[in-house]
Amino acid sequence: MKALVLSGGKGTRLRPLTFTCAKQLIPVANKPILGYVLDQVAATSIKEVGIITAPETGHFVEAYVADGSAWGLTVCYVPQQPLGLAHAVKTARGFLGQDSFVMCLGDNVTGQGLEGFIKKFNAEHLDALIILKEVDVPSSFGIAQLDKEGNIVRLVEKPKTPMGNLAIIGTYLFSNRVHDAIERIGPSWRGELEITDAIQEMINMGFAVKAEILDSWWLDTGKKDDILSANAIILDEYVQFDVKGSVVNSNIVGRVKVEVDAQIINSIVRGPCVIGRNVLVENSFIGPYTSIGDDSKICNSSLEYCVVQNGVTVRDVERLEDSLIGKNAKVIRNTRGRTLKLHVGDYSELEV
Ligand code: TTP
Repeated sequence: MKALVLSGGKGTRLRPLTFTCAKQLIPVANKPILGYVLDQVAATSIKEVGIITAPETGHFVEAYVADGSAWGLTVCYVPQQPLGLAHAVKTARGFLGQDSFVMCLGDNVTGQGLEGFIKKFNAEHLDALIILKEVDVPSSFGIAQLDKEGNIVRLVEKPKTPMGNLAIIGTYLFSNRVHDAIERIGPSWRGELEITDAIQEMINMGFAVKAEILDSWWLDTGKKDDILSANAIILDEYVQFDVKGSVVNSNIVGRVKVEVDAQIINSIVRGPCVIGRNVLVENSFIGPYTSIGDDSKICNSSLEYCVVQNGVTVRDVERLEDSLIGKNAKVIRNTRGRTLKLHVGDYSELEV
């Protein structure tokens, strides 16, 4: 069995960050989301991974994952125009050959490993095993209808009148028969080859298509607020008290990780949170569910529930909350007057 990790796409909902970075590389708890996905693949017996990349951002993904040896994996890159998830599978046909495979979206993380799904897929000789999760707003997702044996009988993309609340998440297992189904489908109204259409076609062709319901959290980090929630959940799950940097006249409370060469001076840091390498936090409050990327400087400011990427400066900002700040950005309060002075990238969002 192989793995196919989808790390292409357009990332329009995360502009402007996706103008200069692949969205799968946006960090949560100071580690790219794609890193968590590869950790999950590496925890199985799978060794060969194909990574789908997009023309504009593929080189960022290649620079991060390299040959995959950091995960003990062998990686092959498959460049793709973003024309849909089933199009990604079609593009990776050469890499996949006749093997069955696990397909993971590079911007989705779950709290449950893949091994149990792989065992079920193999033991029951399935052609597709689709992982589902109950959701509150079915009309925003691809929804699956199951029979009593757990076979999928129907899939509907964003149903106006929901026939259930089980949404398709970003984890799928396929036999090589998926390629026959993909050959038979055409582009959807949005011009993409949809994986839901391919799975529906597998059902129509009489293949064994089953579902498994995820027993843990699932995060799709396609938008800013999803990244903040993912950051909060991952900080909560993984961060332990571990202070390597220097702490001077400060109060560190709860599960806080402070990396080497960081300095916390005259400040309060309340976990769960992570402070990256070579960060300066001075005369500030860093509240729960905040990640501060390497080489950032936070001075005379108060932050809570934020993702701050590398090389950021925040100075004299009384209260920054629910914010996602891109690499090398500066957020500085103008103390000389009441005017706002902005130098903001395309598609940025500011609430002032
Ligand atoms: P989406 O989030 O559905 O699409 P997108 O990345 O184009 O984002 P947006 O809607 O904001 O423009 O994609 C889910 C995942 O699959 C994501 O990791 C990107 C990846 N993907 C591909 O690799 N190839 C594709 O053709 C598409 C559509 C997505």
